[in-house]
Amino acid sequence: MSSVEISKIETQYAEKYPLSQQQAMVARDVFPNGVTHDSRHHEPFPVCVSEVHGCTKNTLEGHQLIDFWMGHGALLLGHGHPDVVQAVQQQVERGTHYSASHELEEQWGRMVLEMIPSAEKLRFTSSGTEATLMALRIARIATGRSKVLKLAGHFHGWHDQLILAADSVPADGDWRQPGITAGVHGDLVVVPPNEINAVEQAILEHQPACVILEPTGGRWGVVPIRDEYLRALREVTSKSETLLIFDEVITGFRVSPGGAQQEYGVTPDLTTLAKVLAGGLPGGCLTGRADLLDYLEYDHPSGLKMKHPGTFNGNPLSASAGIAALKAIKNGEACRQANEASAYFRQGLNEMFADKNVNWVAYGDFSLTKILPNYEGDPPRDDQFLPYKNDEDRINRPVSPQLTRAFRSASLLHGVDLMGWGAIMSCQHTEEILQTAIQGLAEAIDLLKTESLVP
Ligand SMILES: Cc1ncc(COP(=O)(O)O)c(C=O)c1O
Repeated sequence: MSSVEISKIETQYAEKYPLSQQQAMVARDVFPNGVTHDSRHHEPFPVCVSEVHGCTKNTLEGHQLIDFWMGHGALLLGHGHPDVVQAVQQQVERGTHYSASHELEEQWGRMVLEMIPSAEKLRFTSSGTEATLMALRIARIATGRSKVLKLAGHFHGWHDQLILAADSVPADGDWRQPGITAGVHGDLVVVPPNEINAVEQAILEHQPACVILEPTGGRWGVVPIRDEYLRALREVTSKSETLLIFDEVITGFRVSPGGAQQEYGVTPDLTTLAKVLAGGLPGGCLTGRADLLDYLEYDHPSGLKMKHPGTFNGNPLSASAGIAALKAIKNGEACRQANEASAYFRQGLNEMFADKNVNWVAYGDFSLTKILPNYEGDPPRDDQFLPYKNDEDRINRPVSPQLTRAFRSASLLHGVDLMGWGAIMSCQHTEEILQTAIQGLAEAIDLLKTESLVP
């Protein structure tokens, strides 16, 4: 593969998306790399989107893309769900910020309490990052311990403590990151996913305040987690009086109306939520045991109050969207549809990969799909399939940045907007749309083949 060959894909890409390219150039004057979120970064330039509908996006050029980001996972119901649109339109007339308590926040919060099994009380935040930040602080206050145990490769937002070890294991095992102090680094204990003995040992050795994880696997399931591990974790943490925190920012209201905890019947002490919670607007929350949330109260008997301001906490616009979305999700139908669509997509992709004779595999759980290129393990037998029998090191083997970049451009050339090497589904993704996407990705692979990027 040579840069000249790659540039053939990129030449076509630039020809198809000239307005996006122009916009990217001016955006570079304003933002680092021209983007406002690391994962939207793409070279030679990202596409620029002007409108979204259902499960599709229109670029500035008017090209339609099938969307597998779905608002970074926030839009289980798809873009522009009529109930959400109407609720937001009505609310915007009444006001976008009351700087006061209001009925909508109470209704929104009550829906969370009704839907999420562990939820006894909650506090709204503006994002998932803030929710996990709050979870750690409350865990530290409640236990009087300072360390935090997390699983390698689990993402919990970008604040100092948990952005560490959010990616796959670095070759030299060094999790440090620029700008994060040695003290913060020293408060973190990282163990490999799916190894309960490692958790037990680390708890004995470090006495952490809490264990936090994404309950279906880090970075929405790169290395999947199954219920037996969650049950074991619940037992180990309960025995050692270590708080168990499920980060359900992605899985909450998505895996099932009550999130992964409802699906698997494992109840954490604290749960962080965002994304689907706010129906496509900004918003998050920390929920869980009332005695833990009570550390936010002014008159807490311990005298230890966690300070928690936040200009946009419980914002009425987000509340209106959140209430409408949760009402639409509550009966489980949207989750079921998205889960089924994702299983259909995985199966179709694996059939297509076999037809094309490429050693790629699609896997995943619920409405979250991952693709592994250069796969050398057993072929998938059913939708419970775990690549490399869930061997973290083999799953996380680095993919060449050239292939990642070319595959993204080639997919966008063929009308498919994957989220990295993965796809987040909405209930709007019909079989017909998914067939179109699989066909588009087949054509993208053909393009990679002509450039010798896949064998
Ligand atoms: C599991 C998980 N936790 C936390 C976050 C951070 O949420 P936010 O981007 O709203 O800060 C994310 C975001 O993708 C996430 O996937």
